[in-house]
Amino acid sequence: MSWSAKQYSMFEQQRTRPVRDLVAAIPTRDVKTAIDLGCGPGNSTEVLAERFTDARMTGLDSSEDMLSDARQRLPALTFELADIGRWNPPQTYDVILANASLQWVPDHAHLYPRLVNRLNPGGSLAVQTPDNLEEPAHRLARDIAANGPWADKIASVRHPDRHPAAYYFELLQPHCAEVDVWRTTYHHPLAGGHAAVVEWFKGSALRPYLQKLDENEQQAFLDTYLEAISQAYPALGDGTVLLPFPRLFIVAVR
Ligand SMILES: C[S@@+](CC[C@H](N)C(=O)[O-])C[C@H]1O[C@@H](n2cnc3c(N)ncnc32)[C@H](O)[C@@H]1O
Repeated sequence: MSWSAKQYSMFEQQRTRPVRDLVAAIPTRDVKTAIDLGCGPGNSTEVLAERFTDARMTGLDSSEDMLSDARQRLPALTFELADIGRWNPPQTYDVILANASLQWVPDHAHLYPRLVNRLNPGGSLAVQTPDNLEEPAHRLARDIAANGPWADKIASVRHPDRHPAAYYFELLQPHCAEVDVWRTTYHHPLAGGHAAVVEWFKGSALRPYLQKLDENEQQAFLDTYLEAISQAYPALGDGTVLLPFPRLFIVAVR
């Protein structure tokens, strides 16, 4: 399963809330150039563009499907197909935003300082990554991957490493004038209940598993996952599930 803008955007309102909180915390004032790394369908780029109305704004993503939606949504902006892991532009920026994208890119020890190096003095790197690898949604996916008839195909699937707040603080501090790190747990209300929790993760965390399975296996994996999710997340009286979602935020000023 490659990235699908349609699947991802089913929960756009909830997924965009952290972007608003992140962009509001950027201290850089005079912003002429900004880029959104892993811009997805343009929801995060739109928030950035609303805050820095005079900036030359670019969105970058490795998925054509996402870029196609982003271009339709924000036709006046520039969108590029590229891999963040190899991104090494000749120019520098006043703001580099990466909302919910760097968790898909390995080797943060080199990646984050490299991104800071692409900032102008006084510029900001603003990053939000889900901090949920130990939440039931991820734990159950790993368990089901390791214990189903598909184990030989997907038991070894792992998301790239993520690290605690102190790791990023110590990594960035030598390169930056200021580093601000915080962690928030959102409680996203999903009116569709447990089925909606499955749909949410189908659009993101489950992709590495599902893309290695055939159609029948995908359906069986999702059925098993729904059953497990229904046990792990209590529903409210009207069936809504309040999905706890911890997220780590970093704003680093060069
Ligand atoms: C969870 S979505 C985030 C979308 C948007 N930034 C938001 O705030 O909702 C992650 C995006 O990162 C992109 N992505 C993942 N790995 C990437 C990589 N190595 N290079 C560029 N984009 C990548 C995906 O295509 C996807 O659009």
